[in-house]
Amino acid sequence: MADEHRAAPEDAGTIELNVNGASVRVAVDPVTPFLEVLRNDLGLTGAKYGCGVEQCRACAVLADGVAVPTCATAVGSFVGRHVVTVEGLSRGSDVLHPVQQAFLEEEAAQCGFCIPGMVIGAVALLDRTPDPTDAEIRDSLAPHLCRCGSHARIIRAVRRAANSLAEARSVAPVAGGRPR
Ligand code: FES
Ligand code: FES
Repeated sequence: MADEHRAAPEDAGTIELNVNGASVRVAVDPVTPFLEVLRNDLGLTGAKYGCGVEQCRACAVLADGVAVPTCATAVGSFVGRHVVTVEGLSRGSDVLHPVQQAFLEEEAAQCGFCIPGMVIGAVALLDRTPDPTDAEIRDSLAPHLCRCGSHARIIRAVRRAANSLAEARSVAPVAGGRPR
């Protein structure tokens, strides 16, 4: 990705962000696209650069629980918001978020390029609508483009994740209402 937005080190201000539950500081121009900061400065390469103009959602993250694109939005606008990337959904490398697990089990990915954004979109959906209809899943994920045509398996994966989360809630309610 282009780095023309990056300030020279001696001129750079420091921006504090909350990403995946941790406070991090980055020395970048506040107008730098957030995706560039995630990938190049924080080493979080899960979110992908697809279109660069907020039309495909490959770059989506959760910001205060809402799935938002990051490719054309300035890092400065994420200050004070709780950001979760696809990396932040899992607990270590062994315990995946139920949505991630469901995508694996349904073999929902082909090239996988859209999948981080799809997972983020699905997590946001299931947080606000725990038992969505297939139509609600389709509507919610409509802004997330998949060129491989994995849509049917993606919808099955979201349905599987909804069932898995419901089962987890019935067995052991977790503080904060978001069992993983
Ligand atoms: S890369 Fe951000 S919406 Fe396409
Ligand atoms: S799996 Fe390839 S773009 Fe969706």
